This record gives sequence, structure tokens and C-alpha cells, in this order.
Amino acid sequence: MEKTFLMVKPDAVQRGLIGEIISRFEAKGFQLIGAKLMTVSEELAESHYEEHKERPFFPELVQFITSGPVFAMVWQGEQVIATARLMMGTTNPQEAASGTIRGDYGLIVRKNIIHGSDSVQSAEREIKLFFKEDELVEYSKLINNWIY
Ligand code: PPS
Repeated sequence: MEKTFLMVKPDAVQRGLIGEIISRFEAKGFQLIGAKLMTVSEELAESHYEEHKERPFFPELVQFITSGPVFAMVWQGEQVIATARLMMGTTNPQEAASGTIRGDYGLIVRKNIIHGSDSVQSAEREIKLFFKEDELVEYSKLINNWIY
């Protein structure tokens, strides 16, 4: 089963959207295998967003993600990486379709509610950055027989 790293960003934590966001992925049929409320250090933020370090908004990106607690999660399921990105909506909430998380809850690109890995490689890298192996819980759910 594929795994992805999803993070409820500081804006959405402050706005009380953690539960709403978890509900969407649970209702879709994905399985939560790791989660924690945490603050992101500057060092972790810089590693996480390393591929964007030459972009003009990099300092702002690091400042934002370290500005308050985030809710980091690992989700599992078939095609979870691409499907979670679809459920999140486009990076800019102003262009995100309604019915998507950013389309429904976001207004501007600098505060766009949620992060999700964009490939198998980045999911593996980001999961390792944010979670120790013993923080991930593999468990079987009978309901999966009715989802797959
Ligand atoms: S993506 O989803 O990675 O393809 O999007 P991308 O456009 O490459 O953006 C990379 C991350 O930077 C955030 N972003 C911005 N932050 C601040 N200001 C501006 N203008 C801006 N544009 C993009 C964007 O949300 C991506 O962060 P994550 O956490 O992956 O969503």
C-alpha cells in the first residue's frame, strides 16, 4: 500500500480545521497510520522545503510553517499520493475547485491550509523527516474489505 505525508499547516490548526481535514481522508477510505501535533523547527522546515530554496518565497515559506503548531500525518491506501493531492486542490486556493480542501477553506497561496507529498520519492523522504519508524502503526481494518 502506498503511503503519503500530509501536514495541516499552522493557519488551519489555528482555525480549528484538523478534525474536518482528517474526516475527509477517513471518509474517502484512507487509513491513518501516524499523526502528531508538533512545531516545526527552522532546520526541519529548511530540509522539508529544500527543493524550493532558490525560489523567492522560500524565506516566507519557512517563516509560515514555523509560525505555529502543525498536525503531521501519514496516510496509507491505494494511490493515496495522487488522490490526496486531488482532494487538497491546486496550490493556489483561489484557483482550487470547490469541494477540495483548499477550494473550500483557503483564500491565498501563502496560507493554503495543507501540504501533501507530490511523489513516491518525496513521500518517503518527508515521512522519514517527520516520523520515527516506531511512530507509525501498521494495523489491519476489517472495513478495508469493503473499500477495496
Ligand atoms: S507544489 O505543490 O509543490 O507543486 O507547489 P509549488 O508551486 O511548487 O510551491 C511549493 C511550495 O511553496 C508554496 N508556495 C508559496 N508560498 C508562499 N508564497 C508563494 N507565492 C508561494 N507559491 C507557492 C506552496 O504552497 C508549496 O508548499 P506546500 O507546503 O508544498 O503546499
